[in-house]
Amino acid sequence: MVTISNKIKKAPYTALYPVPAVLVTCADENLKPNVITIAWTGTVNSVPPMVYVSVRPDRFSYKLIKETGEFVINVPSAGIVKEVDFCGMNSGRDVDKFAATGLTPLPAAVVKAPLIKECPVNIECQVKQVIELGSHHMFIGEIVSVHIDQDSLNQKGQVDMDLAKAVSYCAGEYRGVDLIIGTHGYSRRSR
Ligand SMILES: Cc1cc2nc3c(=O)[nH]c(=O)nc-3n(C[C@H](O)[C@H](O)[C@H](O)COP(=O)(O)O)c2cc1C
Repeated sequence: MVTISNKIKKAPYTALYPVPAVLVTCADENLKPNVITIAWTGTVNSVPPMVYVSVRPDRFSYKLIKETGEFVINVPSAGIVKEVDFCGMNSGRDVDKFAATGLTPLPAAVVKAPLIKECPVNIECQVKQVIELGSHHMFIGEIVSVHIDQDSLNQKGQVDMDLAKAVSYCAGEYRGVDLIIGTHGYSRRSR
């Protein structure tokens, strides 16, 4: 067995990359909206379509999501990455993040939390389960409606990644995801 390795062993930490950086909207009982930047998020089921967001209980948004059982994942584009950072560096306890950033709330179809106009994709969710993991509580939400900007669609009616200009979050850096390096199933095709 070859024992030579270039690996350095590290203590366990959240090493996975890339992860998304999304803007999650929620609202209080008076429909006053808030936005929180979330990196601990992802798709967890196909049928029914389900996603999760993991939120620390001390976040202002935590209480809103817990009490209403609703949130919207707004997928940002590279053009608003500074706003994404702002919403992750300031609390709705202290600042109206919509007013401060100029982001525009739009009514959602099903939930009371708003969509963000400037985000090309908005995913409305209803909480189905809360799992208390440790530092974060994981809200598992069923997707109840999806909105896509018309001018971010390709001819097949799908999100055009060149137009949507997705943002990834890698070890503290916001990075674009511009380069196509393969397509689903291409390993089975001759080229
Ligand atoms: C890039 C980025 C990713 C973040 N991801 C998370 C996350 O997954 N979960 C979380 O609880 N907080 C996360 N935060 C921190 C919150 O966004 C931040 O504490 C925010 O100010 C909370 O807002 P609120 O108090 O209005 O809810 C992240 C911050 C940044 C900048």
